[in-house]
Amino acid sequence: LAAGERERDLEGSHIVITAGGTSEALDPVRVLTNRSSGKQGAALARAACVRGARVTLVLAGSNIVPPAGVEVVRSVSAADLASAVRELEGKADALIMAAAVSDFTPETSGSKIKKREGESGLTLHLTETEDILRGLTERRVPGRRPRAVCGFAAETGDEHSSALAHAKRKAQAKGADLLAFNDVSKNGFGSDHNELTFLGSSGEILGAASGSKDEVSHAMLDHVAALLTREHG
Ligand code: CTP
Ligand code: CA
Repeated sequence: LAAGERERDLEGSHIVITAGGTSEALDPVRVLTNRSSGKQGAALARAACVRGARVTLVLAGSNIVPPAGVEVVRSVSAADLASAVRELEGKADALIMAAAVSDFTPETSGSKIKKREGESGLTLHLTETEDILRGLTERRVPGRRPRAVCGFAAETGDEHSSALAHAKRKAQAKGADLLAFNDVSKNGFGSDHNELTFLGSSGEILGAASGSKDEVSHAMLDHVAALLTREHG
């Protein structure tokens, strides 16, 4: 769509977007986190705002400055983010999981973990966190909010399959209406540029976009707007 046509096409919709990287406390002074900059999620929030949506941005431990006009909910860990999403999901027309959610979490020690005489290392036991996106699609009731559930898949190719093949399998496993795949071996973390391929819930390719994070956000929101129209109709 031309910039003029997409103007205000999300008016009346409430869009919840998660952004940034979660961090998991090891003890009162240490965390396990990831390199997510939060820029893509913030760009989506800004773009949705411009198009007239009411936007709630659930920000996880990110240094990013939230765009003006969005409501901000802060969260730290994967568990925090999961509960923030649970509280908001029934009020959201569309939910976009752009956050890099920690896959594993340690048991948090209440006191600082100390080096111990005679022990040369430290073994951490990590348990899997809740898959928030998967939970969203599983709990969803047809005709109720959220009407569109979207996510991201950052992949690299390996000896078994291409990055795209991994993303297609992920799209099928997550059951999201829209999964934006990017090959992280091409566009590193923190970049202002992104290349996205949009996949449907069966892994089918719906489109692609490349450009600034603002530009690819608009392309993604074109798909979100189409999903909302479809569901309303
Ligand atoms: N995601 C989530 N909850 C998690 C992990 C990921 O909701 N505990 C969401 C992310 O926000 C993203 C999508 O799931 O929208 C895909 O994340 P990704 O890390 O690519 O997939 P995983 O399912 O975690 O698989 P893996 O990291 O093993 O490839
Ligand atoms: Ca993951």
